[in-house]
Amino acid sequence: MELLTNIKGLNGEIAIPGDKSISHRAIMFGAIANGETIVTNFLLGDDCLSTIQCFRKLGVHIKQQDEKVIIAGKGFSGLKEPAEVLDVGNSGTTIRLLIGILSGLPFHSILIGDQSIGKRPMTRVTKPLRTFGAAIQGRQNGEYTPLSIKGGNLSGIEYTLQVASAQVKSSLLFAGLQANGTTAIIEPVKTRDHTERMIKQFGGDIEINDQTVRLNGGQALTGTTVQVPGDISSAAFFLVAGAIMPNSEIKLTNVGLNPTRTGIIEVMKAMGANLTIMNEEKDASEPRGDLLIKTSTLKGVTIAGDIIPRLIDEIPIIALLATQADGVTIIKDAEELKVKETNRIDTVVKELTKLGAVIEATADGMIIQGNTKLTGGDVSSHGDHRIGMMLAIAAMLCTRNVTLEKKEAIDVSYPTFFDHLQSLI
Ligand code: S3P
Repeated sequence: MELLTNIKGLNGEIAIPGDKSISHRAIMFGAIANGETIVTNFLLGDDCLSTIQCFRKLGVHIKQQDEKVIIAGKGFSGLKEPAEVLDVGNSGTTIRLLIGILSGLPFHSILIGDQSIGKRPMTRVTKPLRTFGAAIQGRQNGEYTPLSIKGGNLSGIEYTLQVASAQVKSSLLFAGLQANGTTAIIEPVKTRDHTERMIKQFGGDIEINDQTVRLNGGQALTGTTVQVPGDISSAAFFLVAGAIMPNSEIKLTNVGLNPTRTGIIEVMKAMGANLTIMNEEKDASEPRGDLLIKTSTLKGVTIAGDIIPRLIDEIPIIALLATQADGVTIIKDAEELKVKETNRIDTVVKELTKLGAVIEATADGMIIQGNTKLTGGDVSSHGDHRIGMMLAIAAMLCTRNVTLEKKEAIDVSYPTFFDHLQSLI
């Protein structure tokens, strides 16, 4: 598609669609709890719809009408052996968390996904889940899909995560809920805590002590209402757009502000962004608020260490932000980018370079020169939603034409992205 270029300003207000991580978990907890769960502001992205489809194949009755989803949960034992293969599409969160759930269930299931899922590492979950007692097979000894699982009879374990990953932590917590005894997960670096919050919201007990989470198996959860806040990872595209475009002022409403996700706000503030948080609700089960961003004068920074998991999905759009800052920006300690929907070090560097950015890949991140004029060219999302949206924002600063290949990838997390963008012009 032809992208919008040469835009002179963005103004208006956007209600950011539901958080992807929380939408997935709301379906999963609704399915394993007893009684009805009502989810509002559910994200209608392809990834979350894949989660609904998988749970329907596991026998769960799920009614979805626009952003409202009603799940008739019957506990873990209400899940039935699926007669069909479970297809997670492009969704890493669906597959990794689902493997944890299926590991505790005494039946056979097969999990597949798209080409990108077929390249993403699964040993990070399959290895510890085997220690719990699950039988899991797959290509290269359980590293890649298709995976087959025969679960049941788990015993709780104590496990230190080898990578900072909320997907792994969550997968093991789902197994722990079904295991005999106690499960303890130790995180080297704190990652998003939506699963822990949701266990409490569904009436479960979980102990959180610094970077150790601990729970007992055999707990029964109870269905509840989940109001999904807007996705800060989606808001990030408009935060950056508002900061780098001239004459801009954008208000983003109902954005999730869970402290394990707000690294982007801290980095933008450190870079000098004119960004204000308003109407903050800190006590909600998931904190939320409105964000106001205005055209900003920015400076380069170094982004490294413990903040990385708190902004990992925002790095492609932060790279674009850095091309418009004064000075150099260095991103380190972000090797995990290589195993996202694409190798995001490669795809960010390759595609932004085509548009005129001066950016260099490193082993664990990238180095971005600031104050570069973006020109134009033919770019591709490589089938990665966040690369596609980043390029659409970059194009607005370009002086020449920009075409985007594989724009449909954006439907994974933000199907209304182009409508929202258009509404600001
Ligand atoms: C997610 C965790 C992160 C993130 C992904 C969503 C989650 O992945 O990148 O988009 O919902 O738990 P990792 O667990 O691989 O870091």
